[in-house]
Amino acid sequence: MKVDVLLGLQWGDEGKGKVVDVLTPKYDIIARFQGGPNAGHTLEFNGFKHVLHTIPSGIFHENKINVVGNGVVIDPIIFMKEIDALKDQNFNINERLVLSRKAHLILPTHKMLDAASEQAKGKKKIGSTLKGIGPTYMDKTGRNGLRIGDIESKDFREKYNNLKAKHLQLLGQFDFEFDLEEMEKEWLVAANKLKEFTLIDSEHYLNNARKESKTILAEGAQGTLLDIDFGSYPFVTSSNTVTAGACTGLGIAPNQIGEVFGIFKAYCTRVGSGPFPTELENETGELLRKAGHEFGATTGRPRRCGWIDLPALKYAIMINGVTQLIMTKADVLTSFKKIKVCTKYSYKGEQIDYLPFDVLDEEMAPVYEELEGWDEDLTGLSDISEIPASLNNYINYLEEKLETPITIVSVGPDRNQTLLREKLTI
Ligand code: GDP
Ligand code: IMO
Ligand code: MG
Repeated sequence: MKVDVLLGLQWGDEGKGKVVDVLTPKYDIIARFQGGPNAGHTLEFNGFKHVLHTIPSGIFHENKINVVGNGVVIDPIIFMKEIDALKDQNFNINERLVLSRKAHLILPTHKMLDAASEQAKGKKKIGSTLKGIGPTYMDKTGRNGLRIGDIESKDFREKYNNLKAKHLQLLGQFDFEFDLEEMEKEWLVAANKLKEFTLIDSEHYLNNARKESKTILAEGAQGTLLDIDFGSYPFVTSSNTVTAGACTGLGIAPNQIGEVFGIFKAYCTRVGSGPFPTELENETGELLRKAGHEFGATTGRPRRCGWIDLPALKYAIMINGVTQLIMTKADVLTSFKKIKVCTKYSYKGEQIDYLPFDVLDEEMAPVYEELEGWDEDLTGLSDISEIPASLNNYINYLEEKLETPITIVSVGPDRNQTLLREKLTI
């Protein structure tokens, strides 16, 4: 069986967690392929809300295996907190969760380096979640990193001390105060607890599963516009958030990728710094933030809000080879008289329909088309045939412009607030 992929097409927080949870019954295995606790994936069902950071979003379903892939970076402290929160709610997750030995570890000093680097950047800061993501991936590519599998080795403590010593040297170059002792104690205890989980060579595990006709959904974190290569660099995260990242983050060959589900909000948000051509720094943006409860699931920061951006979406669809689109938060647009859609940018006196290299330095203004809004509350709908005509128009318009079918429309945060279109194929 080929491996399907679900990933974000914007700047993250598109609703990946919710939709992975909805699709999990159709799969045997859910596998996270990159990112770390910078992610916050929210799931709601039975009046219960849960935010996952490192654990894949299939965890609430019985008889499904959730894999933390080699491309993920893991902070043992945050991971164990997630585990404890799930156990408190009587979810027995140990049987459902396996961890790649090759996933890299976020050390306390990685977090401090992240904070020191952001502080030094001042106004030019990335707006990092300060979870140590950048420094951990730097150590991975710099060939210094520690991996989950190292915890099982006899000289783990020595390896840890060596890497810590390097970090302390680096930290000495910053005007940055920190207190390592307490966090280090907690970290070492949590890291040791990782041994209680099933540690696997996930590339073998997944490819064997595939050969046995098991179905696998690869779950992305962040979004395409935060990708280290294709995002709005340097205001990006430090991993490949795109479909190619599922290949390297899980050990799946490119010709074994099946459906690619690209997920986007019916409008657009961004949290942290960096360009956002359709951002609305006005009352309409404020309305979107309120209606969409647009506050970060990991940091609680208010998300910047704006209209949907088609050139950026087209770019994301191209890079990822998206075969099906999923639109979330359609309900948030209820009561907007007109809905604006950015179809082009006005840039250096021309109209362009792509994101230019120097998007940071040059003024770029979105060019909009306007569509009719709707007043109907969508959150109680149970079938796609019930949607108002203007929303149907909006969906058809987007499908045509994006040249890709929209197969799922989400109309609320709950599992059940999900409308499947007949075009959906899994
Ligand atoms: P993720 O990082 O892509 O998993 O998304 P987040 O969980 O960070 O942010 C999405 C937010 O929107 C969460 O609070 C979800 O519960 C919520 N959400 C998801 N889909 C919908 C939807 O269709 N409508 C509304 N109103 N909220 C949604
Ligand atoms: P999910 O998976 C939204 C943003 C941060 C910052 C930049 C770099 O929930 O969609 P980092 O901590 O990676 O060094 O931050 O990326 N960012 C996210 N924004 N959703 C996320 O994940 C994000 N993960 C990182 O705000 O601008
Ligand atoms: Mg999120």
